[in-house]
Amino acid sequence: MSKSGFNSVGVIGIGTMGNGIAQVAAQSGFTTKVVDISQENVDRGMGIIGKNLDRMVASFEKSGGERGLSQADRDAAWGRLSASTDLASLLDCDIIIEAAVEREDIKLQIFGTLKEKGYGGIIASNTSSISITRLAAGVSDPAKFMGMHFMNPVPIQLGVEIIRGLLTDDDTYNKVVGLCQDMGKVEIPAEDKAGFGINRMWVPFVNEAIRVVEEGVMAPDEADKCTLCLGHKMGPLVTADFVGLDVILFICNVLEEEFGSAYKASPLLKRLVEAGQLGVKSGTGFYVWEGGQATGVNPAVQRYRIG
Ligand SMILES: NC(=O)c1ccc[n+]([C@@H]2O[C@H](COP(=O)([O-])OP(=O)(O)OC[C@H]3O[C@@H](n4cnc5c(N)ncnc54)[C@H](O)[C@@H]3O)[C@@H](O)[C@H]2O)c1
Repeated sequence: MSKSGFNSVGVIGIGTMGNGIAQVAAQSGFTTKVVDISQENVDRGMGIIGKNLDRMVASFEKSGGERGLSQADRDAAWGRLSASTDLASLLDCDIIIEAAVEREDIKLQIFGTLKEKGYGGIIASNTSSISITRLAAGVSDPAKFMGMHFMNPVPIQLGVEIIRGLLTDDDTYNKVVGLCQDMGKVEIPAEDKAGFGINRMWVPFVNEAIRVVEEGVMAPDEADKCTLCLGHKMGPLVTADFVGLDVILFICNVLEEEFGSAYKASPLLKRLVEAGQLGVKSGTGFYVWEGGQATGVNPAVQRYRIG
């Protein structure tokens, strides 16, 4: 019996976060259904999950079973997964984890559709920065809604911030804590304030690293290199490329709105997002990316200077 009591997990959005959440849910034994807006996105997301599971099998074989996943466990996880473009396919899930793009209007539209279709289970949003209490106003039962903020990459990072809205009830909270544990994660409670805990600390750090670059204090790769002394595994700019620069810009704007101009997004971050250079997912961000590897600093970033 799972700690959450759940059998099935629905995931909305099969992008950077959604594919990781779906993979871990399926690996953890849950019937897992994913929905995205187009068949192309569904195929891309399922392709990423398939490759990640294959990598785990290779690691299992190479390490003599010490790490990774056996072929049989891989096949079982894959068999628990299904994906479509139809939100109605999630209506029988015990919980739906919403991991669609970080836009309040889109999230509210999704919740409105679930309400219209009569979904009565728990909904958790993976939002990085939008108020849980505000999002809860769009669902049919705010008591059954809360934040479940996974960290990127989901199959590797253990922490999940869990955020109650003002109206979230104890049953929902306890089941979501149980789900974190069922998925092998560690729950970290945070209050419903802009950026919660992790992004309140981390996004201003990234933003300042970008300022260091655009003011010509350091080259991007040097800025990343020197922060490794903090014990981080990756520098802020390379991590920002993995997270998605659009996501970082959105969070900066939310932090600025709640805490003031000290949190204002740096001009270079805005320019990159305006140019569609969003990091790994678009192929170029602070670095140029090929097959998940950085091949060098983006020449436009190297050139851009202010101040
Ligand atoms: N990227 C990160 O490191 C990170 C970390 C923690 C939380 N988050 C949060 O997770 C959420 C998803 O972020 P992401 O980085 O995975 O974004 P992403 O852009 O990689 O993926 C978002 C996915 O949502 C899909 N989508 C958009 N509208 C939809 C709809 N109406 N129905 C179904 N699917 C829809 C898109 O097609 C896309 O596949 C955001 O709320 C973000 O703030 C992101």
